[in-house]
Amino acid sequence: MYLQRRNRILRATPAIRSLVAETILTPSDFIAPLFIDEGENIQFEIPSMPNYYRRSLDGTIKEVKELWALGIKCVLLFIKAPDELKDNTGKEAWNPAGLMQRSISAIKDAVPGMVVMTDVALDPYSSYGHDGIVADGEIVNDPTVEALVKMSLSHAKAGADFVAPSDMMDGRIGAIREGLEQQGFTKTGIMAYSAKYASCFYGPFRDALDSAPGFGDKKTYQMDFGNRIEAVKEALMDVEEGADIVMVKPGLPYLDILREVKDAVDVPVSVYNISGEYAMIKAAAKMGWINEDKAIIETLTSFKRAGADLIATYFAKDAVRLLQKA
Ligand code: PBG
Repeated sequence: MYLQRRNRILRATPAIRSLVAETILTPSDFIAPLFIDEGENIQFEIPSMPNYYRRSLDGTIKEVKELWALGIKCVLLFIKAPDELKDNTGKEAWNPAGLMQRSISAIKDAVPGMVVMTDVALDPYSSYGHDGIVADGEIVNDPTVEALVKMSLSHAKAGADFVAPSDMMDGRIGAIREGLEQQGFTKTGIMAYSAKYASCFYGPFRDALDSAPGFGDKKTYQMDFGNRIEAVKEALMDVEEGADIVMVKPGLPYLDILREVKDAVDVPVSVYNISGEYAMIKAAAKMGWINEDKAIIETLTSFKRAGADLIATYFAKDAVRLLQKA
């Protein structure tokens, strides 16, 4: 056989393959999400997220130090609010002495270099488990945006490097940016969850924070999973309103959207490899049906290949260890 081009030449040995690799993961690609609870010395394994924990602040600080030592440079904070602090205004969300605010400053004190991002949405604080304020059975946009601005400002005051609004209300990026400017927080970034879909894959996360919606679903604010052009519209509007980073979420079922958004914007794009995606790999590995380590690296590489500059993932620590071994 005479062949002009033999593509297998570039796949012949591990050394050659590494020379021509197009996509290489590094620890600074990752954002490690952290679930924080009140109390002391608490480490609760989330049942639907094996080997992932919700910790009190003391254990969280230890974890952040470990992450930093591994080369992970960014954490994304979520807190679990006790039921008695939940209401329909979400006001605990901007309590200067709240768990989130205390966590931000404690983490920045312990590991000043760590980039601290914070979840901005009312669901952990909402008696209805919705991301916004409820009136007559509806999630009302404009009053929610006002609350989100207060929440963001309180995070900025506590020392957050980036606020990360995950609520999908209209106009919140512009309003938060304006609030930050007015209060002189000119160094606080915004990572916008721009294309966030109404997904069944959030289930384990809602277990982790006990934040499942009390009525209905989130389809009046999160996106319909059949839509593509709308994701680009959301991302472009968020960039215009002042987002420094835009996000696509979930990850794996939305790789096409990730690429589409990456090609459309001139800011870094992040992706969220969410709780249900974590649970699927864990469950299949537990059954002995897939190789967990390989599934982790292949999955995370697919995000970077699809255009992600940053990957929020519960596998951040595992991935760094696997990369060190490779
Ligand atoms: C809520 C929020 C959710 C996640 C991050 N922020 C869940 C939701 O929208 O119900 C999901 C993260 C995950 O599933 O890993 N504002």
